[in-house]
Amino acid sequence: MTAVKKEAVSFIANFEEINLTDKMFDKLSKHMYELAGVDLPNTSKNHALIRNRIVKLLRRHSLKSYEEYWALLEKGGPQITSEFISALTTNMTSFYRESSHFDFLSSVLPTLLNKFPAELRIWCAAASTGQEPYTIGITVNEALQANAKKVRILATDIDLEVLKKASAGIYEEREMQGLSPVLRQKYFQSQKTKEEYFRAQDDLHSMIRFAPFNLMNPKFEFQHKFHVIFCRNVLIYFDEATTKRVIENLTSCLAPGGYLILGHSESGNVKHPQLKPMSRAVYQKL
Ligand SMILES: C[S@@+](CC[C@H](N)C(=O)[O-])C[C@H]1O[C@@H](n2cnc3c(N)ncnc32)[C@H](O)[C@@H]1O
Repeated sequence: MTAVKKEAVSFIANFEEINLTDKMFDKLSKHMYELAGVDLPNTSKNHALIRNRIVKLLRRHSLKSYEEYWALLEKGGPQITSEFISALTTNMTSFYRESSHFDFLSSVLPTLLNKFPAELRIWCAAASTGQEPYTIGITVNEALQANAKKVRILATDIDLEVLKKASAGIYEEREMQGLSPVLRQKYFQSQKTKEEYFRAQDDLHSMIRFAPFNLMNPKFEFQHKFHVIFCRNVLIYFDEATTKRVIENLTSCLAPGGYLILGHSESGNVKHPQLKPMSRAVYQKL
């Protein structure tokens, strides 16, 4: 190994040795809680999570300690805040994740369209890299065919990096997991450069609008009510009080007769007088 290479390796190794004190952990986790509602109590797992994810930002900004990073974060600025949020969110997703929800959507779409014939609005409120809103779009197309044009999908997330990927609608083979070969062929175009990529077809892509949205906003103000809201696998990161507030806000922007769909493991805390349980983690607004 050359001297330069050796130096580079030891420089990077030093990053791994930088200590994250409990005091700094508390500051960083409190900041994330205030910005995004993500609750990271001081456990060894969360300590490792913050350390492993923020160390990348130390590297990016050539900083020597978490204290220096905190000073940068305190100075603020949209880019620094955005990459902090992006580093500490968990974006795991896939096509047709918890697939019973898409069977449910498919079964209620014709009735919903009869009830609201002008337009159906679906909000995907923690869309991550986009597999979920594209799955919604595919489900709508398969269920309604020509009438699918009457459906508008809004896909939002707090993390601007995943939102950018979602909006591009371009995936590697490993990110296409969950989508059958038939649907992949129908709704995505294969592009081969060095590797194979799959790009969402224009008709599918144009059904979805992508925008940033923080579920911590005190009020959810939209011009029109939604007929279906997907808010799945994000409440697990919030504490009980935050979850309650978010469910209240989601319910307020749902049309009567519309559906709220949460993640399979997230229905435990839902006790809302206007929400009637329908099936696993699916509620109808009375
Ligand atoms: C685990 S992913 C779930 C993605 C998708 N809903 C699914 O079920 O496959 C959680 C997503 O919630 C987003 N998120 C976390 N806190 C948020 C907040 N306060 N407002 C909006 N989105 C948030 C994250 O950025 C992440 O993309």
